[in-house]
Amino acid sequence: MKTINNLALVAATFSAAGVAAAGTPVLAPRASSTLTPITVTGNAFYQGTDRFYIRGVDYQPGGGTGTVADPIADEAGCTRDVPYFTKLGINAIRVYAVDNTANHDTCMNALEAAGIYLILDTDTPKYSLNRADPGPSYNSVYLQSVFATIDAFANYTNTLGFLSGNEVINNVTNTNCAPYVKAVTRDMKQYIGSRGYRSIPVGYSAADVDANQGILGQYLNCGTDDERADFYSINDYSWCDPSSFTTSGWDTLIKNYTGYSIPLFMSEYGCITNKRVFSEVSALYSTEMSAVFSGGLVYEYSEEGNNYGLVTISGTTVTITDQFTDLQDAYANATNPTGNGGASTSTDASTCPSANENWTPTNDNLPAIPSAAEKLMKTGAGTAPGLSGAGSQNSGSSDTESSGTATAGSGTVTSTATASGSSSSSTKKSDGALVAALDMKVFSVVMVMLMGMVGGMVYCRFAFHFLGISVHASWN
Ligand SMILES: *[C@@H]1O[C@H](CO)[C@@H](O)[C@H](O)[C@H]1NC(C)=O
Ligand SMILES: *[C@@H]1O[C@H](CO)[C@@H](O)[C@H](O)[C@H]1NC(C)=O
Ligand SMILES: *[C@@H]1O[C@H](CO)[C@@H](O)[C@H](O)[C@H]1NC(C)=O
Ligand SMILES: *[C@@H]1O[C@H](CO)[C@@H](O)[C@H](O)[C@H]1NC(C)=O
Repeated sequence: MKTINNLALVAATFSAAGVAAAGTPVLAPRASSTLTPITVTGNAFYQGTDRFYIRGVDYQPGGGTGTVADPIADEAGCTRDVPYFTKLGINAIRVYAVDNTANHDTCMNALEAAGIYLILDTDTPKYSLNRADPGPSYNSVYLQSVFATIDAFANYTNTLGFLSGNEVINNVTNTNCAPYVKAVTRDMKQYIGSRGYRSIPVGYSAADVDANQGILGQYLNCGTDDERADFYSINDYSWCDPSSFTTSGWDTLIKNYTGYSIPLFMSEYGCITNKRVFSEVSALYSTEMSAVFSGGLVYEYSEEGNNYGLVTISGTTVTITDQFTDLQDAYANATNPTGNGGASTSTDASTCPSANENWTPTNDNLPAIPSAAEKLMKTGAGTAPGLSGAGSQNSGSSDTESSGTATAGSGTVTSTATASGSSSSSTKKSDGALVAALDMKVFSVVMVMLMGMVGGMVYCRFAFHFLGISVHASWN
């Protein structure tokens, strides 16, 4: 069952040619008031002093076509879709890829005027880690693109957060990517701090893989503060209507993440095994879950050939489905818990997981930031490569790759514009004499069900992932 869902995730990441016709009408003028930036305290998001729960949808029109386009640079597409976001009653969208050379003012302002925040993946198909060979793909060419995307979005007050990767780890066989995922997360945090930007949260979006989703969450939240993610998000398709808190296993999810000290949300949810009516929405925003989860995003706004769409788009026309109406009703019916919903203010780091049959990292050493990327902390990223640049996955060389292991930092992320580029976590060290990995309960072997997909595979790019031969394997 997760088969189909995971398959769909792949499609989500390919954005399409939502080409804006020349001379299309412009959006409403910038709202006079700006949205209050979202902050993190303990395990929750806040909008000012109010707890903030993400109520959103994933948004990448054309994602099923195999071509990549930037929906936030598509003014006509934005003009078309923002009214539907308003109708749905959402306050956030997640976008999987953008063109960091494009101007995003019009769409970001339209979203802002509608009270909508953006959660943005900073990878693109060409600039991403390669899960089949992560070391060489963690290079300065890649990080320059990531940093350029941060530059392009940091000024918008409605940029809620950045995702340092989506499902890079998608199997028990590639948990060796985890140190690179965590290093990218750390580097993004350091870049935001070094450039003097607002403290925009940086997190990661984890694949629906039972065997290591929880372990990865612990790993990204362990160690020193400069290396820990600001939030964690999971793709979860375990609530398949008709279902319930216990039938779906969400009760176990809550048990597993109780005490987790950074905000947690669902970066994708909405199982379509049976007809979905979004009965999980009332659970997600109830006190059963609010002490641990901060809402989530339904996968996905537009129909992309995989039956997950809430609307179908044809040119400038949007046609809603009954799922759209069901979600609209479910969001309207689900009021937030009162007060802070049981949120915790603890910031205690998780215990770093030890290696087991589902997890290969043996300690919490991270690769040092490549020195060519470390320089960008001081100078800024410079010219962005866009979606059509040469790409980074084959750019590994002695000049661009990491050498050495990072030393865990002092526990703080600098946030002044004058900070030197040599962040604490980028200090090179020949040997990682870090905090000894502590014992964690050994997880039982759980067969990853991804394999079951072979038979139903329809997306050729996904086939490549299976064979491990796609250079873009890690992007989604
Ligand atoms: C962001 O704002 C700063 C300060 O106003 C400005 O110097 C910079 O050019 C802006 N960046 C972008 C991408 O608009
Ligand atoms: C909860 O954690 C256990 C390992 O302790 C894992 O096997 C299980 O899949 C997790 N369940 C959920 C729903 O996350
Ligand atoms: C509406 O919300 C209530 C309370 O959370 C819940 O019990 C009920 O199932 C919800 N109804 C629908 C149609 O979602
Ligand atoms: C996951 O790993 C197993 C080997 O343990 C392999 O057979 C399977 O093809 C992998 N699945 C994916 C989606 O890469």
